[in-house]
Amino acid sequence: MKAIYPGTFDPVTNGHLDIIKRCSKKFDKITVLVLNNPSKKHMFTVEERIDLLKDVTKNLENVEVDSFTGLLVDYMRENQVELIIRGLRAVSDFEYEMQMALMNNRLHDDAETFFLIARNQYSYLSSSIVKEVASFNGNITGLVPETVELAIKEKLKGV
Ligand code: COA
Repeated sequence: MKAIYPGTFDPVTNGHLDIIKRCSKKFDKITVLVLNNPSKKHMFTVEERIDLLKDVTKNLENVEVDSFTGLLVDYMRENQVELIIRGLRAVSDFEYEMQMALMNNRLHDDAETFFLIARNQYSYLSSSIVKEVASFNGNITGLVPETVELAIKEKLKGV
């Protein structure tokens, strides 16, 4: 069975990677989909986010990375995928995730969302909090893959 793990991934964290690894053991093929929201301010371009994702998933044979601008359900129809994977980090994620799952289901009858509970050690992680800590020279080792840590530091040099 094929599934999509959509997100902004600005940048991918170890929390995302944990979800990807766990899903890759349960599904035949996972597409990690970088959704482009031009109205949001990002640290990394879509291409940079894709490159980082490709690098950190290079050892996972059934994982591919793609990007899309538009509705997730349109990508799903175009690519004949009906399953969406999302991670739940805390109860506070639930309301927003439920809203998205219901809307996606309204837009696409066959779209179903599967939720994975994020592991405890990643339940407080987000891309923004990692970027904020890094911007004040805080230690982000272990929160993101090494290549991502280097990429964040490189970005911040130019700020
Ligand atoms: N580990 C660590 N961090 C996690 C995480 C995990 N397991 N799961 C989520 N997060 C963090 C992300 O890093 C992100 O942090 P940030 O806000 O600091 O950048 C935050 O939680 C939000 O997660 P993200 O996966 O980026 O989702 P999102 O809420 O920004 O967007 C989309 C969700 C992109 C899937 C959704 O907006 C979408 O489908 N867009 C396409 C347009 C569309 O179809 N809209 C209608 C949807 S009903």
